[in-house]
Amino acid sequence: MKLFVYHTPEEIPSNRLPSCAIVIDVLRASSTIATAIHAGAEAVQVFNDLELLVSTSDAVAEEQRLRAGERGGRQVKGFEFGNSPLAFTPENTQGRRLFLSTTNGTRCSESVRNASKVIIAALINRRAVVNYLCSKKPGTVWLVGSGWEGSYSLEDTVCAGAIIEGVLAAGKTPLAKLAGNDEAIAAVSLYRQWQGQLGELLDCGSHGQRLLKMRAQADVAYCAQLDVLDVLPIQRGLGTFVQLQPGLIEKTCEFLARLVGRKPEQKGDDDGVPAELIGMAAQEELKPQVESQDGLKAKKVKSKVKPQIQSAPQTQQADRPLTQTEQKVELKAIADKVPAPVLEETPKTDPSEAAVSASGMTGAEQVSEEIGEETPTVSPMETAVQPVAMEPTETKASQLEKAKGSMVGEVQGIWSKMTKVNPNYQRVPSQKDK
Ligand code: MLT
Repeated sequence: MKLFVYHTPEEIPSNRLPSCAIVIDVLRASSTIATAIHAGAEAVQVFNDLELLVSTSDAVAEEQRLRAGERGGRQVKGFEFGNSPLAFTPENTQGRRLFLSTTNGTRCSESVRNASKVIIAALINRRAVVNYLCSKKPGTVWLVGSGWEGSYSLEDTVCAGAIIEGVLAAGKTPLAKLAGNDEAIAAVSLYRQWQGQLGELLDCGSHGQRLLKMRAQADVAYCAQLDVLDVLPIQRGLGTFVQLQPGLIEKTCEFLARLVGRKPEQKGDDDGVPAELIGMAAQEELKPQVESQDGLKAKKVKSKVKPQIQSAPQTQQADRPLTQTEQKVELKAIADKVPAPVLEETPKTDPSEAAVSASGMTGAEQVSEEIGEETPTVSPMETAVQPVAMEPTETKASQLEKAKGSMVGEVQGIWSKMTKVNPNYQRVPSQKDK
């Protein structure tokens, strides 16, 4: 893992993307996004363009949305909120989608939105970001400060330093190896110098000074706190941030292990995914219930239609664990049973409208539901207002296929780690055997 620090979006390389981009805008967009998600926002959708924010959010029922606009540190006329993180409380935020546009932070997130992983970092959720980096170990990580209208921001750099310091403290990699550029080393030095006086540092900075003049002392003090929110906003669909769900793959394996009545950590696991497991997994089909106009909630219900997942042909040695190839075939059978969403290749209507499959769920939700992942409550907004990121050559369906494929590979990889080759393989009797 190599960590690069860029003080403003203008500094990031134009000809490549990182495995993981971290958007930092301590004062105040990142702090606002983290706080809103922590307060229960269904999602935070960011816009560079105020008009697009309004037209997109008009498609969402008033009681389901919040609109926040800030320019130059001040609330934009006609918006309910500016960019104060303290304005978002569980009472006014729970279950709603926040549509947000700010001078710098939302622009910064737009500059890196095509990276495979985009997360939002501030001082208040620094620990969650460090934990994510230490567990996922992305290859190349860009920590991108939002700055102020293209110029350097002290607070964003000290936050980048705090994140790198956290990764250093959690591992054995020396800074010289972990840092991808000089700015990363300088950021750590800045953090080490000010870590006990982050409030004073923010007060000294040019933007902190600006906010103090606007009587936003409470905001500055709030944003200067370190590690106070355990929340990790991660991009799910261009420009839309949700709370990172516990590992899909880990939950898949847990779900699979439960299905055969064993704990993943149980010793003596076999090395295969028993064929009956695949059949059973497919039977746990989840059907969405449209609870009301405002959303789809995935509920576990027994499916009436039993998908005909063909188990791997049983050999005469019933206890022979599945080979890796058979595992792949079986696991793929789960993923492939999920019909890819019927999406227009090029949306005929307003590009912000995304079609969804007949089930009312996007393919990604179907994939995660098929395997028992409790998907976060996903409102049609997730698809209705989500600007469809249609690459000219790649449809969302093929993106989903790719995602499914890599997920199956990961599941298979983790499963074979979880279950070791065991000569005394004892198959857990399945329902059919009884
Ligand atoms: C931001 O992007 O965070 C804003 O421009 C600054 C602020 O709202 O104070």
